[in-house]
Amino acid sequence: MESIPIVISGSGSMGRQVALAAAVDPGTTPLAFIDALSQEESCEGLPLYREAALALDTHMPEVVVDFSNAEWTPVIARAALERGIRLVIGTTGLPADFLEELQAEAKTREVGVVLAPNFAIGAILLMHFARQAAKFFDNAEIIELHHAGKVDAPSGTAKTTAEQMVQARGKPFERVEADFQTVPGTRGGEVDGVTLHSVRLPGLVAHQEVLFGGLGQTLSLRHDSTGRDSFMPGVLAAVKAVREEQGLVVGLEKLFGLS
Ligand SMILES: NC(=O)c1ccc[n+]([C@@H]2O[C@H](COP(=O)([O-])OP(=O)(O)OC[C@H]3O[C@@H](n4cnc5c(N)ncnc54)[C@H](O)[C@@H]3O)[C@@H](O)[C@H]2O)c1
Repeated sequence: MESIPIVISGSGSMGRQVALAAAVDPGTTPLAFIDALSQEESCEGLPLYREAALALDTHMPEVVVDFSNAEWTPVIARAALERGIRLVIGTTGLPADFLEELQAEAKTREVGVVLAPNFAIGAILLMHFARQAAKFFDNAEIIELHHAGKVDAPSGTAKTTAEQMVQARGKPFERVEADFQTVPGTRGGEVDGVTLHSVRLPGLVAHQEVLFGGLGQTLSLRHDSTGRDSFMPGVLAAVKAVREEQGLVVGLEKLFGLS
């Protein structure tokens, strides 16, 4: 099997994990990092570039894997698509207008892009089960719990889970409001009747619980990523699968036949 050359955008915790995982997988070869904010010249034994164009033109990867920041992802995505390079994007908190642009550009250029708010296979299954349960309950709340360094809230996974639950049910959930909140915001955020709560604490990695309530019963679905390595099988599966795609695919569930 030929090995897929990849360049990694973002040299933070996730980017570094991708480099380590891709180095030991015979199907992938990590070539370099791009990180506009890094002061380093190398990372995990690979050269590190601050400029997207220079890195891509020097290494000509087949796939760029991006785990960076919502401000940077459009920059690297445009540079990759202009060159016909496929993308696997894990960065969360991306604005809706950029997603529209990404969809249009990937389609026009016939380049595969996989964007997934969560690469943990257990989390994909949690969303799958939540879509099934959504048809049978009128009330639902999501508690997502993440490490203290996470910049966006709610998590992309929590927002997507809520949206998919509503879509599966075909109408908004019924939200239970508090008559008054002695501490503002205590009832959390809302997506079409699904209440969202974001917990941020040192010591956590990425966790999500979906709670359904009905007459005389509740149903709880929970997934825990206990380490960042939990995302790597999904990332490497996406790097391999993106070669077969043209245009934008959102969510690993489509690649796994769960949608
Ligand atoms: N899809 C998933 O399964 C999944 C899992 C974990 C994390 N994430 C997301 O991946 C992203 C990265 O997570 P992380 O934990 O590695 O974060 P991190 O903070 O450890 O690393 C982020 C990297 O992006 C770079 N960066 C930040 N702002 C930038 C900017 N304006 N311009 C250029 N580069 C910039 C930083 O230099 C850093 O190297 C986040 O959006 C996070 O939510 C997704």
